[in-house]
Parts: sequence; C-alpha cells; structure tokens
Amino acid sequence: MEDYLNKGIKEIIDQFPEVENILNEYDIGCAPCSVGTCLLKDIVEIHILPADKEQELLGKIAKTLYPDREIKIPRIERKIETEPKKIKYSLPMKGLVDEHVLIKRLVALIPEVVANLDVDSEEGRQLILDAVDFIRFYADKYHHAKEEEILFKYFDENLDILKVMHEDHTQARNHVKAVLEALGRKDKAAISKHLTAYGELLNEHIKKEDEILYPWMDKNLSITQIGDLFSKFKETDEKIGYSPSKYEEFINKIEEKFKQKEV
Ligand SMILES: [Fe+2]
Ligand SMILES: [Fe+2]
Repeated sequence: MEDYLNKGIKEIIDQFPEVENILNEYDIGCAPCSVGTCLLKDIVEIHILPADKEQELLGKIAKTLYPDREIKIPRIERKIETEPKKIKYSLPMKGLVDEHVLIKRLVALIPEVVANLDVDSEEGRQLILDAVDFIRFYADKYHHAKEEEILFKYFDENLDILKVMHEDHTQARNHVKAVLEALGRKDKAAISKHLTAYGELLNEHIKKEDEILYPWMDKNLSITQIGDLFSKFKETDEKIGYSPSKYEEFINKIEEKFKQKEV
C-alpha cells in the first residue's frame, strides 16, 4: 500500500479506473483536475476527511488495488484540523476568508441576475456592468491579487494545488471577459452561460481555499511569515485606492432589489 501512497493519482486511476469512483464518493474529484500529478498520500492528507472516513476510503482503495489480500491500512500523518467548522485561521488568512463571504454573496445572486437578464434597458445593462466591476475590482484586484502576488509566493509555485488555484483565477477572468463581450453584442445566452460558469467555478474555488488550501498554508507558515503576511496585506489594502465598502453596499443593494421582486 505504501508504494501506491507515493504514486501519482492519475497513474493509479489509469491502472485502476475504479479508484476514481471511490474518490468521488468522498467528494474528491481528481479526474477533472487539469494538473493531476498529486500523489495519493498528498490527496488524502490535504482533503481533511475525518480519521474514520479516511481509513474507510483507504480500505476501499486497498481492496481495489489488492483484491486477494488483506492489507493493513497505514495512517496518513496530517497537519490540519479535520473538521472544517473547527478550522482556526491566522489573522491574515481569516481576512481572506472574510473577503470570500462578499464574493459568495455575489455568486448566490447570479441565478437571479440570469433569470432577470435584460440587455435592452439601460438599467439592465448597468446591473451586468456593476457585477463585472465587482468581480474585477473586488474579487480580482482586491482579493485574488493578494493571493497571487503575496500569499502564494511563500510556497513553491510548482505545487499542484497552486497551479490549480492559478488556473481557476485565469478561467474566472476569461468568463468575465466573455460576459463583457457578450454584453456588447446583447447576446443573452452567452452572458448567462459565462456568468453561471463563473459562479460555479468560484463556489468550488472558495471551498477549496477555505477548507483545504488556507488551513494547510497556515500550518506550513512560521509565526514570522504570518506576521509578515499580515503587514503586506495591510499595506496592499491601504494602497488599493478605492474603498471595499462600496462593494458591500452594491451587494446589499442588489440583494434588496431581488428580495423586493419576490414579495
Ligand atoms: Fe483564489
Ligand atoms: Fe480566494
């Protein structure tokens, strides 16, 4: 079993396709991952399963790899808290988790925005432009930039998980660009498609960061690095040149607008 724990997951899935279904049962979606060179043991460590679930998962994988043998399941040494609700973030990481809350509120509004899409009126077009402005300046320049230009730089850029995060950011930017282009042509179908895809991507992306990436990073950063990170985030926030509170007001306003529509 130890041999397989140190093997790349794609290689294992190629050899034993059933392993993909087993991982899916535990919400570990390795097959669609664009990178896919992670080792089985890293995947198990980083996905914060409770200890009993982790043993159960490894038991099922062992049965697939060695159908005729009784295999002793090794315990994977983990550095992170197993229950997401108990995750304690450092101060700078907590700041990023708090920024996700506003982004998630926008993402939650996307189905309503799409259902009420109006590209013919000035007001309808402005709503899309305001949503794009939120995504570009709050989600991207204010938040993703802190991740890419500061936080991720403390780690090896060749780590698979960081490649996946960068790839998600790039895809998100491409969706936003496509929304603006579609708005120019008043193409409602394309606006809906790219806004919806953006929402789905960001939901998954934020979950990965909150529950997997940030706790893992916190455990691997020294106290000095965390202090340093806090100062750099503060400096960046001060330099940004616009108030993030205006974006909170925007979200409050559209939440209110759609709530009134429901009454
Ligand atoms: Fe991110
Ligand atoms: Fe993020």
